[in-house]
Amino acid sequence: MNYQEFYQRSINQPEEFWKEQASKLSWYKEPKTILGKDQYDYPVWFEDGELNMSYLCVDKHVEDGYGDQNAIIYDSPVTNTNQYITFKQLQYEVSKFAGGLQSLGLTKGDTAIIYMPMIPQAIYAMLACARLGVIHSVVFGGFAPHELAIRIDDCKPKAIITASNGVEIQRIVPYKPFVDEAIELSEHKPNHVIVFDRKLGVDFNMGVHDVDYTTLKEHSRPAEPVEVNSSHPLYILYTSGTTGKPKGIIRDTGGYATALNFSMQHVYGVDSGDVYWAASDVGWVVGHSYIVYGPLLNRNTTLIFEGKPIKTPDASTFWRVISEHQVKVMFTAPTAIRAIKKEDPNGALIKKFDLSCLKYQFLAGERCDVSTLRWTEKHLNVPVIDHWWQTESGWPMLANMVGVGLQEVKPGSASLPVCGYDIKILDEQGNELPVGSEGYVAVKLPLPPGTLLNLWENPARFKAGYLNQFPGYYASGDGGYKDEDGYVFITGRVDDIINVAGHRLSTAEMEEVVASYEHVAECAVFGVHCEIKGQKPLGLIVLKEGVQEVEAAIKSNIVQMVRHEIGPVAAFKEVLIVNRLPKTRSGKILRKLLRQLSDEANYNIPSTIDDVKIIDEILEVYQNNQIGQHKKLVL
Ligand code: COA
Ligand code: AMP
Repeated sequence: MNYQEFYQRSINQPEEFWKEQASKLSWYKEPKTILGKDQYDYPVWFEDGELNMSYLCVDKHVEDGYGDQNAIIYDSPVTNTNQYITFKQLQYEVSKFAGGLQSLGLTKGDTAIIYMPMIPQAIYAMLACARLGVIHSVVFGGFAPHELAIRIDDCKPKAIITASNGVEIQRIVPYKPFVDEAIELSEHKPNHVIVFDRKLGVDFNMGVHDVDYTTLKEHSRPAEPVEVNSSHPLYILYTSGTTGKPKGIIRDTGGYATALNFSMQHVYGVDSGDVYWAASDVGWVVGHSYIVYGPLLNRNTTLIFEGKPIKTPDASTFWRVISEHQVKVMFTAPTAIRAIKKEDPNGALIKKFDLSCLKYQFLAGERCDVSTLRWTEKHLNVPVIDHWWQTESGWPMLANMVGVGLQEVKPGSASLPVCGYDIKILDEQGNELPVGSEGYVAVKLPLPPGTLLNLWENPARFKAGYLNQFPGYYASGDGGYKDEDGYVFITGRVDDIINVAGHRLSTAEMEEVVASYEHVAECAVFGVHCEIKGQKPLGLIVLKEGVQEVEAAIKSNIVQMVRHEIGPVAAFKEVLIVNRLPKTRSGKILRKLLRQLSDEANYNIPSTIDDVKIIDEILEVYQNNQIGQHKKLVL
């Protein structure tokens, strides 16, 4: 198959192309309308089709005679556990837990939050919701109760499914107590909290409305999959936006199933039966698409890994897992490789394992620097594929589609558009830019199946955030350029979102917390370069007049506040006190300039700056605090 021809067909004849891909799934009712429009005039796929995601991921494979194949391998270095779960066992766990949810009154169209560590029960819970048409919203465990409360109030779950605790290397993360705290904070109160007790000796309270996961499952009757319409939301996944309030991305069922199934074979190059490992977390989109739904749809064995690239117990863990479980394709974030590279610069630990099973190493979640790519290629001796996508897209938008045929790997580029994505580089006015010119990365509508349907109960924000900037296009929020071969180079966000260790975070949200500290007059939070995590947040604060509190105490209190309000995942650890912040003459804080002063060799002084002398003041503060290097001024 030729990539160019295949790709062009997906753009020129999208309906035919995706109809063919959709027909590879077992629908209860095959869609007749392939591409339609919803009530907001936004393109939707397969609207009259009916199917069930849990059936496709589980029961179908048992019916086809693969009940004894491993569906899930749970590898947990933090608890010294390896568990193998076949499709037959998965069917039992999922249908019984779904029966339990049904007995509590959960039904199609209800919402449920899943706040769980990386254990198989998180996957059972997701598939059990999907089985009933209950819309799940998984919340990443590194978020604090306050963040969980925001999501509870937004999606109003009938139930929250959680666990007694998580294990972060050696630190116990109290999931159930965090849920209790979140419910105290939220206005909406769920009817039930279902708790999986990991029996790791961690104390937690069971209130009158709390239900034990295992007892519920054991006493229930297995539930059959419920037919849902293709556009029925499978899940809501909250992601950082440019305001303090996270956005609830809605994913459909039929388009998503079609796209993921397509991507497993054509993007990742895995066949049914292969072991596929995405070393992410079920709380992120990578976890939804490539720990749970994608591999299971394609009848791959998926790995749920409860550990870190380093320290669990050391930088050889990834290689041990690949070799022990015969992983064919692996997916992680560049930051994980950088962390490993720091501990094992010459790859000595890699040599201890037979990695001949590995065919491709995929990277995504943040920009991949050339040295990380080269190091990985050299030591793994397989093609290393940087690919680009987002929570919104749900699956890759740019990639080297190895399943169609490996193309040249160009370091620094996430390669070529994936089938269905007509990617353009636009200027401020929406005109397409020539080769080599950097601009806004946008995708011509319609987006292919599997991408976002809307924002949960906020269609206005959906339009304003993604569709209004360039009419007829989806605005990705990233900047980039194309080369003469059509390869796209993503250069970074054009908004206030940052990527810290592959985790997408909003600086606006952190700024809100910092600004609420009693002694802060004004502040700015932005991302600065970090050798391991790619970026890290930095806060600059101006204190109110006459503040008596010791500066060190102020800084430490602010760091604690962000950790408490947003969570440890924000990795907000640095605050600097300055006399004033650079502003435009109209009073807007120049955050981009602050970032450039810390990160870039060259910076431009905006013509709108109200007082140019402030640049030297900020540079001096950076210098005194070892932020960035000495900079060259460009006038
Ligand atoms: N539950 C609770 N806390 C969590 C958590 C979770 N699921 N995940 C992370 N945290 C905490 C960490 O313990 C850490 O807390 P600390 O400040 O007390 O040390 C904090 O959040 C920051 O975590 P992280 O940014 O992950 O940093 P780290 O120093 O623990 O690890 C890496 C650094 C690079 C090893 C790690 O970030 C990593 O493996 N990244 C890969 C990310 C990834 O796969 N992203 C998926 C997108 S593709
Ligand atoms: P998330 O929604 O958490 O998956 O984060 C998506 C954002 O991560 C994108 O908008 C990009 O800014 C960034 N990103 C993801 N993958 C890549 C990549 N391969 N190269 C550059 N940036 C990336």
